[in-house]
Amino acid sequence: MIEHKGADVIKLHYDINPNDFLAAGEASSNVKKILNQLGINPIIIKKAAIAMYEAEINAVIHAEGGCADVEISAESILIKITDKGPGIPDINLAMQEGYSTAPDTIREMGFGAGMGLPNIKRYSDNFGIKTKVGDGTTITIKVNI
Ligand SMILES: Nc1ncnc2c1ncn2[C@@H]1O[C@H](COP(=O)(O)OP(=O)(O)O)[C@@H](O)[C@H]1O
Ligand SMILES: [Mg+2]
Repeated sequence: MIEHKGADVIKLHYDINPNDFLAAGEASSNVKKILNQLGINPIIIKKAAIAMYEAEINAVIHAEGGCADVEISAESILIKITDKGPGIPDINLAMQEGYSTAPDTIREMGFGAGMGLPNIKRYSDNFGIKTKVGDGTTITIKVNI
């Protein structure tokens, strides 16, 4: 059981390994476990866990991995997924439901439905995307508690 009192903020950091499809989703499932231990409302946990999972998977399949930083306070769950991948040339296009550049080899593994970014936005109370071609992408997800 993790104690979470008053103004304390829990800070978590994870590395997201590139092309490690077996371990993909480990960071978000660990955060989900911690949120459960904190006794947070299951609906809020589900929102945060799905949004973080999708951003984590994107870092694995579209970039060369990256890292995740999570801050849990009494008010919110703040998740930042950072990668140094290729960046997203057209954010509006990438945000469209069903749009995916995932190759067949990735689709065969069950990824690449093109619903990740739209779902991240849907489940976030605040959603941010910062991306630069050739530089990388940072996704910010805030879920209010
Ligand atoms: N971290 C990222 N780095 C580079 N491109 C990305 C990243 N995340 C998403 N994209 C681009 O946006 C598209 C849509 O993402 P998403 O909605 O999660 O669908 P999917 O991952 O199933 O392809 C991806 O196919 C990819 O082209
Ligand atoms: Mg995706």
